[in-house]
Amino acid sequence: MRTNILVVGGAGYIGSHMCKHLFKRGYQPIVLDNLVCGHRQAVQWGPFFEGSMSDSHLLREIFSDHPIAAVMHFAAFCYVGESVTEPAKYYENNVANTISLLEVMLEKKVSNFIFSSSCATYGEPIEVPIREDHPLKPISPYGRTKLMVEQILEDFREAYGLASVSLRYFNAAGADPDGELGEDHDPETHLIPLVLQTALGQRPRVDIFGDDYPTKDGTCIRDYIHVEDLAQAHLIGLERLLGGEAGGQYNLGNGQGHSVKQVIEMAGRVTGKPIPVSVGERRKGDPAVLVSSSEKAIHDLGWRPRFPGLEAVIETAWNWHKVNPNGYADI
Ligand code: UFG
Repeated sequence: MRTNILVVGGAGYIGSHMCKHLFKRGYQPIVLDNLVCGHRQAVQWGPFFEGSMSDSHLLREIFSDHPIAAVMHFAAFCYVGESVTEPAKYYENNVANTISLLEVMLEKKVSNFIFSSSCATYGEPIEVPIREDHPLKPISPYGRTKLMVEQILEDFREAYGLASVSLRYFNAAGADPDGELGEDHDPETHLIPLVLQTALGQRPRVDIFGDDYPTKDGTCIRDYIHVEDLAQAHLIGLERLLGGEAGGQYNLGNGQGHSVKQVIEMAGRVTGKPIPVSVGERRKGDPAVLVSSSEKAIHDLGWRPRFPGLEAVIETAWNWHKVNPNGYADI
């Protein structure tokens, strides 16, 4: 008998990879997703409920019909720029709806929670690599929503005994190494899929957002982490909670930075295709360098990334994009 894990946002990019990972490890993922950003075709490893985490009635039904050992939450909106122009949308979904989900969990006595947090909780870094004890001063509504939920989880742990792990992702990238799942956002704003769409000839060029940053080649440096390695860290976190631990916060990155130009160059090598570029203005709110110190996850959780190199990240993403040039519409 498989242990049920409710994966909220399980039809999305990271959530769907998580479901496959859970299933392979003997768990039964149950997906709740409103399909606003997710894809029905990405739900392949168990029951699917279409709906919002704010639908307490539906959640009560799911919890009553299926004994759920833990909830994993991947259902946040994630566009930093949009969060600046539409903060209400972000506070409502990412914070208010999460509280609503947590309340039903408490009512149904489900006491383990894994939360997708973000390096956006740190804001402009004063020290890199960024450790978990770096000051938390988010500079966007998106980052603030993530920090607020982390704080709520701390209070809920203290008051209600809700155990939780918050995982602060750096730049999630790559795709399922078997080619069954990939990254498909609408609109697409993330660098690696945009670069690969350019390699496919779907876009004329990649716009580099500024080459006058105080970095070696003038472009921003990010820490790209393979989505499979993210999923593996979630699994370890889950098993710690199921084993009775109280949880905490962990960074997830490789501890290695790559500039925008390096990403484009690597994508050119992996795809063998020309990738035209143009250099444009800086994008508002982009810190020059975001690189993780993942010592805590490695040391405390025993997490070992399987795909720490940029090449494997881009290769797996490319394998998916070239087979599914229109994303899930091709499946
Ligand atoms: N970039 C470009 N051109 C593009 C797209 C991106 O030059 O067309 C650059 C960005 O300026 C940035 C880098 O590529 O320097 C990576 O950009 P992404 O949009 O792929 O990712 P971000 O670093 O902006 O965002 C990630 C996550 C967010 C998270 C944020 C924290 O996707 O969810 O890090 O700052 F909040």
